[in-house]
Amino acid sequence: MADRQSPDQILEELSKTKIAGVLLILYFVNLACHVCVPEHSRNTVLISLLYYTRMKSASIIVGISAGIAGYKLLDLIKILKGKKHDVAVVMTRHAIEMFGSEDFEKAAGHKISYKNIFHKGKIDHIELAAKADLIVVAPATADIIGKIAGGLADDLLTTTILASHSPVLICPSMNSRMWENPAVKENIQILKRRSLYILPPVSGRLACGTVGIGRLPDVEEIAGEIERILLQSKKLKGKKIMITAGGTTEPIDAVRMITNRSTGKMGAALADASTSQGAQVLFLHSVSSVMPRFPVREAKFMTASELEELMKKNIKDYDCLFHVAAVSDFIPEKFIDQKIDSRQSIKVSFKPARKIINQVKKWNRKIKLVGFKAIYKLSEKEIIKTAFEKLEDCGADYIIANDVGGEGIGFAANDNEVYIVSGKGLLVKIPKAPKTEIAEKILNNIFPDGKEN
Ligand SMILES: Cc1cc2nc3c(=O)[nH]c(=O)nc-3n(C[C@H](O)[C@H](O)[C@H](O)COP(=O)(O)O)c2cc1C
Repeated sequence: MADRQSPDQILEELSKTKIAGVLLILYFVNLACHVCVPEHSRNTVLISLLYYTRMKSASIIVGISAGIAGYKLLDLIKILKGKKHDVAVVMTRHAIEMFGSEDFEKAAGHKISYKNIFHKGKIDHIELAAKADLIVVAPATADIIGKIAGGLADDLLTTTILASHSPVLICPSMNSRMWENPAVKENIQILKRRSLYILPPVSGRLACGTVGIGRLPDVEEIAGEIERILLQSKKLKGKKIMITAGGTTEPIDAVRMITNRSTGKMGAALADASTSQGAQVLFLHSVSSVMPRFPVREAKFMTASELEELMKKNIKDYDCLFHVAAVSDFIPEKFIDQKIDSRQSIKVSFKPARKIINQVKKWNRKIKLVGFKAIYKLSEKEIIKTAFEKLEDCGADYIIANDVGGEGIGFAANDNEVYIVSGKGLLVKIPKAPKTEIAEKILNNIFPDGKEN
């Protein structure tokens, strides 16, 4: 059982999280409400105020690594604290060696260490990670970017990042030759694929005297990006989104099967984008699908009929479905419950599979249905035409078409390029970009400002 806290400790906790302040304000507002607000509206006024105070401040971890731009972070800490955010600063050992911790401790208002993973019986990195609404790493050195990409955790900052489920904003800053190094570029791609946010460095005069890309963006810009991510993290609050991902597999005999090349990357990227915008996600995925970075409710399927059953069972509870899974179009006519002898030639006949997407609106009339259509090497005009035909066929609200035969896009690729059509016409073409960016743009088109489109 956990030790009971002394009254002093409780008070310290309360003042740390500003709850005491909020309670005090609520007490006075409550008094005022008794004088001037009718009884039936008092709770609404108090709840709105509480919601407003919660909306205003967030718990932010500022991670500082040993880049020459680190001294600028003093200003970022001041800006964030000025906006009433609860700021915890964690520095790497090299950052402390480079800048000392004193000025940062003054700005942060607490002691700074790089190593107190175990501290007074508490596990600091888990506690920090659990309460963070956002982690920003600025400046992010080539070294720490490599460590995060490699899943290393040898100090408080890297361990906290690994233990967190909150959005992470990485602000790289380094010499331009380091920034252009393929190792750094690849590590950045890995972080993007895992749905970490990257605020790229800007061009200008670098500490080493050369001019090029590598400067840390102004702290005001970093603060703006933090606010954008925090705001976005509430955009889809209250929405329940079902996402299907990966390819279905149909058995032919006891050991052989037929499937397709879908890996679930696009679905996983949509799950991460939806979760980081505050939606509740159910992720229905194939056995071998890539999984999202953020925790989601999930269930596995193998065959098209297993997927259909899962969708049908859950769909009534959801507001929106992204049907990204590549469902078998053909199913073996019969299943042979043994290992077919490989010395003989065989003929396998297939029947067309039932289109699950055509059932969705029958199960839940109100659901916002977003279907994906894989197209193979067609012209832009034909892709859009096929997308409209599919829209009409299945009664979807949107069809997102992508050419899975395109160079470096589609099945298994890390990038995609998509066309979104709806009853209103062609909404947008999203040009080739990492699937995580495509996912964010899809959500922005379908839920502009969190409202229905
Ligand atoms: C004066 C000085 C300035 C440095 N500036 C940078 C920088 O801007 N970006 C970078 O990636 N590395 C820079 N480095 C190298 C890092 O400090 C080094 O890779 C270190 O191991 C990073 O440790 P950390 O990532 O744990 O903080 C600099 C080194 C020195 C000595």
